[in-house]
Amino acid sequence: MAPEKGVVRMGVIGVGGMGQGHCRTMQAVDEMKLTAVCDIDPATAEKVGADYGVRWFANHRDLIRSGLCDAVLVATPHPPRPPIAVDAMKAGLHVLAEKPLSERVSTADKMIAAARESKVAFAVDFQRRTEPAFKKAIELVRSGILGRIYRRTLISPEYRSQAYYDSGGWRATWTGEGGGVMMNQSPHILDLFILLGGMPSRVMGKTETRLHRIEVEDLAEATLTYPDGGTGYFYCSTCEAGPGQMIEIFGDKGKLCWRNGKLSLFRFDPPIAEFTRTSEKMWGGPKCEEVPVDIPDGPRGHINILRNFARNILCGEPLVSPGEEGIRSLELANAVWLSAFRGRPVDLPLNRRAYDRFLGRMRRESKFEKDPARIHRETDPHHLV
Ligand SMILES: NC(=O)c1ccc[n+]([C@@H]2O[C@H](COP(=O)([O-])OP(=O)(O)OC[C@H]3O[C@@H](n4cnc5c(N)ncnc54)[C@H](O)[C@@H]3O)[C@@H](O)[C@H]2O)c1
Repeated sequence: MAPEKGVVRMGVIGVGGMGQGHCRTMQAVDEMKLTAVCDIDPATAEKVGADYGVRWFANHRDLIRSGLCDAVLVATPHPPRPPIAVDAMKAGLHVLAEKPLSERVSTADKMIAAARESKVAFAVDFQRRTEPAFKKAIELVRSGILGRIYRRTLISPEYRSQAYYDSGGWRATWTGEGGGVMMNQSPHILDLFILLGGMPSRVMGKTETRLHRIEVEDLAEATLTYPDGGTGYFYCSTCEAGPGQMIEIFGDKGKLCWRNGKLSLFRFDPPIAEFTRTSEKMWGGPKCEEVPVDIPDGPRGHINILRNFARNILCGEPLVSPGEEGIRSLELANAVWLSAFRGRPVDLPLNRRAYDRFLGRMRRESKFEKDPARIHRETDPHHLV
């Protein structure tokens, strides 16, 4: 049901670094009004409630029952997100979830099912989908300009310091976070990689804890096999600093390269398969020409996701980042972990029970302890309004 007066009354659940960033961003969205906040740490909830002059709660059920909100944004750590989202959906509230939807696919499935049953809007905060170069890349791939796709590659340095990991008791532990770089830093780029290249059908993964004093992976890589016979590779790491984030999609008719936000398109004439079959030349390959790509500017960042979520509720604007699409990057990350653990390839769709057993074992066997004195809630200064 659409809220009255053309404004969605929002509650933010989990008002640490990211939740507080969203409270600030919301002030600039005409279609939204912050009406309540919640955090299991009462002092944090009270302070943020006072900052914005709204009611605060230390339990999400009280916020949901308060009648103050039409929708909630869930910015807790990932593992408590699914039960909170499901409680809100069952009460008829729309849900915008932070990424990743959850730490494991079985509970993300429950969010998707609850949203369908309750007929509420459900979105995930993949704000990088709004970047103009990515929007253009998706348009180009969907136009078929690359022909049959042979290879997809993703390289993603996502550097984080030890101080970052120490800032949250939940961070980089099996219990608190359920994974490392694949769970927290790379969901955005994995999402874009999947939007461009599709989902693989088989994954052979490898994970390492190389540089940080953490329990989970700070480096992950995988070779990927696709249903169309194509191959892929992905690497992500919080050990590597500097530029170099890149996605490449190589097809029969061309190659698309996204590197640090810049997009290049190359076309083969004739296409590779045809040249290979018909050319009489011993050396060389098909002509390869760079084609200029026009990237129109446009709104980007969290504000765009928030506004779109509100407009979806108010007037049915299609969601930029539907909740059910949030499961794909999570499923790929879970598959890499399961494969790395078993030392053999894993097929997709992922066997939910097998992953739950694996995660349960990691949690039971965990002995990792954090220093509570270093816990710190701080919004990333790069948080774009
Ligand atoms: N979209 C993005 O670009 C982006 C960027 C940063 C973080 N995030 C996501 O946001 C989430 C939070 O990250 P953060 O950096 O803000 O962490 P944080 O530790 O700063 O904040 C999390 C807050 O949630 C509270 N909390 C924990 N369990 C709760 C519960 N059951 N009910 C209510 N509150 C609860 C904690 O007390 C804390 O204040 C993570 O899932 C992270 O992946 C997304």
